[in-house]
Formats: sequence, C-alpha cells, structure tokens
Amino acid sequence: MVELREKILNLVSLFRKTRDKEVANQIVELYSSLKDKKNVLGKEIYAVAGVVFRIKNNLYSEKKAINKPENNRKKNEVELSTLFENNYLQIRNNFYKFYEQYRAERTPENIEKVCQYYDSIPNGVKKYIFTDDYERIKNRIAKLKKLKASNPLCKENHKKQKITSKMLKASTPGKTNTVINLSYRLEKFEIRKYLLELAKSYSPISAFTLPGTEWIFERDLLLQNNCKSIVGIEVDPVVYEFSKHNMPPVKNIDFYNISDKEFFAQEKHSFLFDLLWLDYMGQFNFQRLQVFENAIKNGFLKDECLVALTFMGGRETSDVLEVYQQTCPKEKNMHEARKTVIPNKYKEIAEKYGYEVEVLKAQVYKEEMGACKAVPMVFIALQLRKRK
Ligand SMILES: C[S@@+](CC[C@H](N)C(=O)[O-])C[C@H]1O[C@@H](n2cnc3c(N)ncnc32)[C@H](O)[C@@H]1O
Repeated sequence: MVELREKILNLVSLFRKTRDKEVANQIVELYSSLKDKKNVLGKEIYAVAGVVFRIKNNLYSEKKAINKPENNRKKNEVELSTLFENNYLQIRNNFYKFYEQYRAERTPENIEKVCQYYDSIPNGVKKYIFTDDYERIKNRIAKLKKLKASNPLCKENHKKQKITSKMLKASTPGKTNTVINLSYRLEKFEIRKYLLELAKSYSPISAFTLPGTEWIFERDLLLQNNCKSIVGIEVDPVVYEFSKHNMPPVKNIDFYNISDKEFFAQEKHSFLFDLLWLDYMGQFNFQRLQVFENAIKNGFLKDECLVALTFMGGRETSDVLEVYQQTCPKEKNMHEARKTVIPNKYKEIAEKYGYEVEVLKAQVYKEEMGACKAVPMVFIALQLRKRK
C-alpha cells in the first residue's frame, strides 16, 4: 500500500515537472485501479484526485511545466527538481506529521512546532510540496500564527484525552482535589454568592478563576449577563481533563492546564481582568504573593478591580508563621493573625504598584471535606483602585 502511494505521488511530481502525456496516462490508470483510494492515499487523495480530474479534462497547459527552461522561476524554485527527487515526500510527510500532532492535541507547543516547520520550508517550494492542499495549509498556518500572536498560550482544544499514568503522577488525588471534595463544600456557596454580588458592579466583567471541576461560580457569573470573558486555569492535569468536559459550552471561556505562577509570569499577553479569584485550597505562602505581584507587574489587572483569595488556614511554613507571630505577637489565635497578615501582605504589594486598597472581607470559615472532616479556611476580598 505504501509502495502504491509512493508510486502514484512520484508520478504526480514527475508529471508536474514534465507534463509528459505518458506519465499522465499512468497516473489516471493507476488511480482508477485503486480500490480503496482513501486508504491508500490518505490525505493526498484530494491532491491526486485534483490532478486526475485536470488530466481527464485537459486542464493542464504544457507551458507551465515546472522545469521548462523558459519558465521564469524565482531563485528558490530553481532547486525544485532536486528537492522533488531528494526529499520532497520527506518534507511533506514531516509537515503532515507535525500537523496531525497539532490536530490531535492543540497545545501551544504543537502549534509552535507546526508553524516552525512550515516556516522552514522555502516559500517558493511550498506550493509544489502541498500541491492542491497548499491554500488550505497556508490559511490554516496564518490563522495559527494570529492565534499565537494574540494569546501566547493559544486556545486549547477540548478533545477527549486519555488520563495517562504520567498525568496521574503529576496529580495529587486524595488530597484536596478529588471531584467529591471539590464539589461539596457548603460554605463555599456563600463565598461564591458574595463574590457574584460584588461582580454585579463591573459590567461587562472579565474574570480570572480557578474553576475546579464544577464551574459553579463561573456558570452563575455567565448567567448574570454581564460577563465578557472568563479565563480559567487548572494546574492538576487530571482535574483539568475532567474539568474541561464540564465547562459551560460558551465561546467566551478560555481554560488552560497551567499553574498560576506560569500564567502570570507572561510578559506579553492580551488579558486584562476586573476580577481575580485565586481560590486556592492550599495555605498562604510567599510564592503566592509573588504570583500576585507578577499579575500586577505584568499588567493583568484593570485600574479598578476585585481580588479575592481563599486559603487553607493551617499548615503554613515556618517563615509564614514567623511573620504571623511578629505582626500579631499577642495573638494566640492563629486565625486572627491570618485575617490580618494575609490581606495586609497583598495590600502592600498592590500599593507598591500605585493602587489604593480596601479590604472588603477577611473571614475565617470551616469547610466540610467529605463526611467527617472540616478544614478551616481564610477568605479575603480586596477592592483595588489605581491612584490618580
Ligand atoms: C478550590 S478549587 C476551585 C473551586 C472553585 N473555585 C469553586 O468555586 O468550586 C481550586 C482548584 O485550583 C487548582 N489549583 C490550586 N492551586 C493552583 C495553582 N497554583 N495554579 C493553578 N491551579 C491551581 C486546584 O487543583 C483545584 O482544582
């Protein structure tokens, strides 16, 4: 089958160079004799069918034979005959390999690879390599490049993927991110309602969230009818896989399998948020503070915006505990220290970048985790306004 495919493609390339009638007859004969054309030719079927159609209908002009000496070819087209003989099929196959990878998984890396390979093929040659598929590929690559330029993370496609052992290794099931644990946290409903109420005063609103698997807050935000766009991220690959199939099916949501650290480290992007809800399930730490600083420094926040944060109240590292102690030395109750220190740390950073900050809420609450476990949580809501 592979041989037949190579044979017919070689004949087609020879015919393109020579316009030889005998070659044309062989192409038509061979093509007509193929029982399962699609299977033998794969993607090339369209190119070959087009050639056969033109041969049969006498649509080829002899003058346009590629290697005619009187042909006024551009410099890089001169090497075409060598290219055809040596690695024409190789280049084309390589390109389609990258292209198929991208179609199977539309990740930024795969988009980058397919665009890069396309660019590495000399311009004058592309037309001959892709034959009848040339226009389609050219347009597709142009679109991908636009996508890359407008959004460095590119749009994810939401094809079904297998949960691989690699993903499971990178995931931390059984901790706080199982579907059941994420879903049934009753006091979280009050927090979501509170934020939805605040969000009403931003119209239209662009929000950044950690949606988990349920997209409950995001669904209600969409239903409030003032939502321009939502960007969601999820660091855990397994949670991401489940979550993406549970996304509200609307166009104005983008969802990425990435950490907050990587997301806000981007210096070039087109995001600008009115609402940032970093609904962490882990404890407060200084790395998270750095993430917030990057979000401001790299221009992700509007001049007037809301920042909400949720942390687990416990398991902080010693450097954080030390700050709690220093800031609130008399405080025996650690929760009181959390309610003071965490918003103040965020406030300091925002103020450093010219914002006035009002702490709208600093609250400790208990969240049920499964049937018999409750975890203390800290919820902080801040209103930021750029100083004039
Ligand atoms: C508490 S859940 C989100 C719940 C959701 N906001 C809600 O209202 O139901 C937090 C999610 O964010 C993910 N996550 C935690 N830390 C993250 C980080 N640093 N970057 C990206 N995702 C993170 C977790 O894996 C989890 O799925």
